[in-house]
Amino acid sequence: MKQYIYDNNTFFRKYQEIRAREHNYNILLEQPNFLTLLPTLKNKIVLDIGCGVGDFAAYCLELGAKYVTGIDISSNMIAHAKTHHVYDNLLFEQVAFEEMTVPEGTIDFISSSLAFHYIADFQLLIKKISTALCEGGILLFSIEHPIVSANMGKDNWITTAEGNLLYFAIDNYQLEGLRTQHWLVDNVVKYHRTLSTIINTLIEHGLQIEKMVEPIPTKDAVSNLPNLNKEFRRPSFLIIRAKKILKNNHQNVSI
Ligand SMILES: C[S@@+](CC[C@H](N)C(=O)[O-])C[C@H]1O[C@@H](n2cnc3c(N)ncnc32)[C@H](O)[C@@H]1O
Repeated sequence: MKQYIYDNNTFFRKYQEIRAREHNYNILLEQPNFLTLLPTLKNKIVLDIGCGVGDFAAYCLELGAKYVTGIDISSNMIAHAKTHHVYDNLLFEQVAFEEMTVPEGTIDFISSSLAFHYIADFQLLIKKISTALCEGGILLFSIEHPIVSANMGKDNWITTAEGNLLYFAIDNYQLEGLRTQHWLVDNVVKYHRTLSTIINTLIEHGLQIEKMVEPIPTKDAVSNLPNLNKEFRRPSFLIIRAKKILKNNHQNVSI
């Protein structure tokens, strides 16, 4: 099921408020770690999936990319991106990735920041990405960490009566699939998959994992946003960089 939650105006307004804050999880935690894993982009063809307002896609041009396409399911996001980033070699398209046609072996770098947990069919997603990447091409993506996405709609921090954190409870981890949560508004739909499903799906589609990061904040980040202290106890995000390997080197593992 595809959800156009970023076109819900109440959700979008609240989301923009969070993103506009000087100190938020994206600026202090997810993005700094994501950016350390970027490949060289000089003269590369780039696709950013779930590009949002297009800031990262435009940044890829600054880093020397030859041509960048940003796609997003949300008309709000794409309208914003088209207004704020206008370059001849930057294309924004409103389309769900599931419905996008991608020519085989044409893309050097596919990025996606915090969008894959909105996509229902992870197999199809990774199959299309693997097909679109040229050999040696890089996929870099961040998602909600599986120990967080397992959450069945509750805040899984267990606290004392006074509100002090005791521990983070993980439940329903092995039950993959749809999660309906309150995040900014009711009924936000996301998808949980286990770490092994994520990793095995990459392997099965010829994507060799080069690096995984479960970001922890710097001291400065914590002093600016004390809530980040929780990240030392459980990670919110998982970031993976993988490389499309030569067909001959890609062997299915049979047990
Ligand atoms: C948390 S936002 C991240 C936006 C951007 N990557 C960033 O980091 O600022 C997730 C984005 O994924 C988009 N999205 C969700 N489902 C999608 C789908 N099936 N195809 C393409 N984009 C999708 C949403 O519209 C939203 O813009």
